[in-house]
Amino acid sequence: MTDLSALPADFLFGAATAAYQIEGSADADGRAPSIWDTFSHTPGRIVGGDTGDTACDHYRRWPEDVALMRSLGLDAYRFSIAWPRVVPLADGRVNPAGLDFYDRLVDGLLAAGIVPFPTLYHWDLPQAQQDRGGWPARSTAERFAEYAAAVGERLGDRVTYWATLNEPLCSAWIGHLDGTMAPGLTDLTAAVRASYHLHLGHGLAVRALRETVPGARIGIVNNLSPIEPASGSPADRAAAARADGHVNRWWLDPVLGRGYPADMRAEYGVDLPVRDGDLDLIAAPLDWLGLNYYFRQIVADDPGGPAPRFRQVPGPNPRHTAMPWEVHAPGLEQLLLRLTHDYGVRRIFVTENGSAYQDTVGPDGGVHDPERTAFLREHLSACARAAARGAGPAGYFAWSLLDNFEWAYGYDKRFGLVHVDYPTQRRTVKTSGRRYAELIAAHRGRGGGGAPGTPH
Ligand code: FCB
Repeated sequence: MTDLSALPADFLFGAATAAYQIEGSADADGRAPSIWDTFSHTPGRIVGGDTGDTACDHYRRWPEDVALMRSLGLDAYRFSIAWPRVVPLADGRVNPAGLDFYDRLVDGLLAAGIVPFPTLYHWDLPQAQQDRGGWPARSTAERFAEYAAAVGERLGDRVTYWATLNEPLCSAWIGHLDGTMAPGLTDLTAAVRASYHLHLGHGLAVRALRETVPGARIGIVNNLSPIEPASGSPADRAAAARADGHVNRWWLDPVLGRGYPADMRAEYGVDLPVRDGDLDLIAAPLDWLGLNYYFRQIVADDPGGPAPRFRQVPGPNPRHTAMPWEVHAPGLEQLLLRLTHDYGVRRIFVTENGSAYQDTVGPDGGVHDPERTAFLREHLSACARAAARGAGPAGYFAWSLLDNFEWAYGYDKRFGLVHVDYPTQRRTVKTSGRRYAELIAAHRGRGGGGAPGTPH
């Protein structure tokens, strides 16, 4: 059995999704294209030529999906709001029909006793903003705050928990440096500037939300990885320090008031376009920090490579998901301890954690996924171990509620607790989803009450 007794009674058990990965209805009710529409429609960018045009058709099927969440006994649902639905074009005009969708969804969640946990930006920048310079341009950060205020005004009477950005590392490093995500650039200067304006956009959005939503509990979501050197050599150890800077410190330090790490500024050699007051905005006090955890990284020196001169190498552990990412639950505990003890973070949510496997519907109509169930149990146990050491999270969101559009991998990778048969859009709760529901119910039976005041 999985011992979760160290988790607090009011621990929030949830699941997460993101707008472009599930909604579909790409041109409904005034939505305009995002950089992901452009990217996915560019030949060669996505496995199988897949796009998010239809995805899980959640824009139309959301009542069924909320009913599924309720059947699993979820306390909370983390979803993202599509900026290209709310402020689709460059003119700054708010599209009320786009907001109506999230209005209905929030009402539906509350009626089901599920805490809505929206993220304002999960990578779907309006193409119109990309055309005006995208994240490398300061204006994008300013437009993001205006969009945040519009969402806050509409939903703030019912939504308490807000996340500004999801994984800005991926927007900046994967979107502008590796080039394998939208907008698909490979330009260090653009990437570093994007990272800075993402942070600035976060800070400006925090200010806008504080003004429009009194009592809001605001956080930012980072994906972090424990880093280990491939060997004890000084070169590999130095590479691990750079990798830690690139993957973890660059994303935590400025937001938590430590400024940008000097070693990484020197490593990138790109001037940050800092103006007076920016760093204070970026470090605005937060109510919680979101941690997305998937894998650790073992790295070696890459002396001839581009900044930050490290490469990931395979470790000795043979357990991998279909991504193929290493399964290493102790890494989650390690990160929770580091955030709590080294950074002094007082409230953490595990905002994503999950695994892809090649699931199929069996002859009995079920989807049996013992590996995902084991992954879930091991990572929840890691949360409980961290809790026993004073570093536990306040909640856990499984990635993902549904199988969905996994970015550059298209529909090839399935992360859901619920299987989606795309041609029919039929949903089937996987065995892992049932086990998750049992764990939630058991925690409640133990005195864990879930979200305060929510009926189940
Ligand atoms: C994270 C993303 C999420 C999903 C998972 C597998 O990096 O935030 O949208 O793709 O990975």
